[in-house]
Amino acid sequence: MKKLIVGNWKMKPLTYDEAERLVDKISAFPNKDGAKIVLCPPFVWLTDLSHEAPSGIEFGAQDVFWENPKKGGAFTGEISAAMLKNSNVKYVILGHSERRNILGETDEIINKKITIVIHSGLNPILCIGEPKNVSRKGFEAVASFLTKQIGSDLMGVKNSGLRKLVIAYEPYWAIGSGVPQDTKDASDIAEFIKKFINQKYKIKNIPVLYGGSVNSSNAKDYLSLRNINGLLVGGASVDASEFLKILRAV
Ligand code: PGA
Repeated sequence: MKKLIVGNWKMKPLTYDEAERLVDKISAFPNKDGAKIVLCPPFVWLTDLSHEAPSGIEFGAQDVFWENPKKGGAFTGEISAAMLKNSNVKYVILGHSERRNILGETDEIINKKITIVIHSGLNPILCIGEPKNVSRKGFEAVASFLTKQIGSDLMGVKNSGLRKLVIAYEPYWAIGSGVPQDTKDASDIAEFIKKFINQKYKIKNIPVLYGGSVNSSNAKDYLSLRNINGLLVGGASVDASEFLKILRAV
């Protein structure tokens, strides 16, 4: 399985020119085939970039709406899965902790979005992770928190629909904090997630990414773990030289 490197640009950069320059620099990386690269710019830049996707780079959205009426619908401000599909967008990040914690997205909402994303043939990247107070209690507590999250987010989704699913394990406290999860813990948790998905949904070796304060100095530590199939990179993904170093680490 090729390592999957996802850049979550969040609400950056502020101009289209900067966004385009970032893609140009990444697309000039000579060894792109060594990894699967997915860039997730904000919606305002996403579709211009994805229509012109350079070879070796795929694009993802940071969100989608849960309704997807055939002829479009009256949902002010929202973007449908069909619009993404028609714009050469391949992936959608769902359940990111910033959406869960700042925007109040519930597991129920995430479940509706995952259902639409799968139904539309897009690839969902489901973010899961525990807060610090759960992490402090140790492995069992984290495992039970994550299985509840996965169970609610995937409720009612048919096993066959999960073939395209990617899970991103991102402990909330590690995101943007400069303090990543310990590599051994990340590996143990990724292994646990794979076993759980295999037992409950009969999907073998589901891709599990690690995310949370990944940068060019620690990327290699995670990439060398057998249970980690790639990275979800936030801050370091909008800095071209950092992101290129991460690609080199692959
Ligand atoms: P970070 O963000 O790499 O800036 O910690 C990761 C994420 O939010 O996906």
